[in-house]
Amino acid sequence: NKRIAVLTSGGDAPGMNACIRAIVVASEGKGHSVIGFEHGYNGLLSADWRKLDSKKVHNIIQRGGTILRSARCKEFKEEASARLAAKHLDELAIDALLVIGGDGSFHGARHLANYWNGDVIGLPGTIDNDIYGTDATIGYYTAIETAMDSIDKVRDTADAFERIFLVEVMGRHAGFLGACAAIAGAANYVILPELFKDTQTTLDNIHQQLAIHRQRYGHESFIIVLTENLWPAGISDLATQLETLTGGEVRPVTLGHIQRGGSPVSQDRMLATLLGVHAVKCVEEDKSGIMVGVHNNEPVEIPLEQTWENKKALSSPLTHTMLTMLNERHHWGLG
Ligand code: F6P
Repeated sequence: NKRIAVLTSGGDAPGMNACIRAIVVASEGKGHSVIGFEHGYNGLLSADWRKLDSKKVHNIIQRGGTILRSARCKEFKEEASARLAAKHLDELAIDALLVIGGDGSFHGARHLANYWNGDVIGLPGTIDNDIYGTDATIGYYTAIETAMDSIDKVRDTADAFERIFLVEVMGRHAGFLGACAAIAGAANYVILPELFKDTQTTLDNIHQQLAIHRQRYGHESFIIVLTENLWPAGISDLATQLETLTGGEVRPVTLGHIQRGGSPVSQDRMLATLLGVHAVKCVEEDKSGIMVGVHNNEPVEIPLEQTWENKKALSSPLTHTMLTMLNERHHWGLG
């Protein structure tokens, strides 16, 4: 029987609790024991942990956040930190550490593996979906839902005032969340890192789209989705530039951390459960240095390094849909 440890690290994402639950329930069923470290890698350094069993993970599948808390732990990059974590894991006789998190968390897991003999396995949990090697990450679907819902609400007031709205969504440096929120929310334009050329081209394109929109609908209610960390001088600068360009009123809305919260939608609960159960299977097979992911609804495993050495691309059907329905529809004769 194995002794398994789990932690959640980096930006929390809806579905992390569902994943912890799946790991615990699947482990118990096979006679393994599970402990959870608190506050991400910080708990590994301070030996702050607690036992987890089915009772402790009862009634958490629907809860956002993470019962183990999360953190970003810069000092874990140091060799001394990895050695200290290895010492604590050995003292607890842990066979495998499961890390639920994103890019930074996986770097931490790989770093630890240089100094610890136990098995390390990553499970992708981030609203950004910016991890190579998995079709989706835990929390991504719920964040899309939240952003879409916000765009629906913004549209009501945008229509009432016939105003232009800029809605900034998260995603770190990737446009997965922005792309899906824009398509599902029927935005009129989307600014994403994957499609971005430069500020002038973007302003020109919006201007052109807006003219077509005015002609077609006879009003100015127009919604632009913008991915964070992209517009050089920030969303307020873009709003000002658009006001000057269009002569209309522009209101910026930053959705921010609202996108990280809430009860996970069913897709995130199912993904979290699939990945949790599969990670326990990998522990039984003594696999290490891998991330478990999902491809075409099947669990997959890939080396941790590959998750950051490769860049995940927006799928071409997604890009095609965006260009057809949003940014370049005049080019497609869809004005
Ligand atoms: O990675 C998740 C995420 O929410 C990103 O979308 C965002 O850029 C970042 O975390 C924000 O981090 P913090 O909560 O530390 O401000």
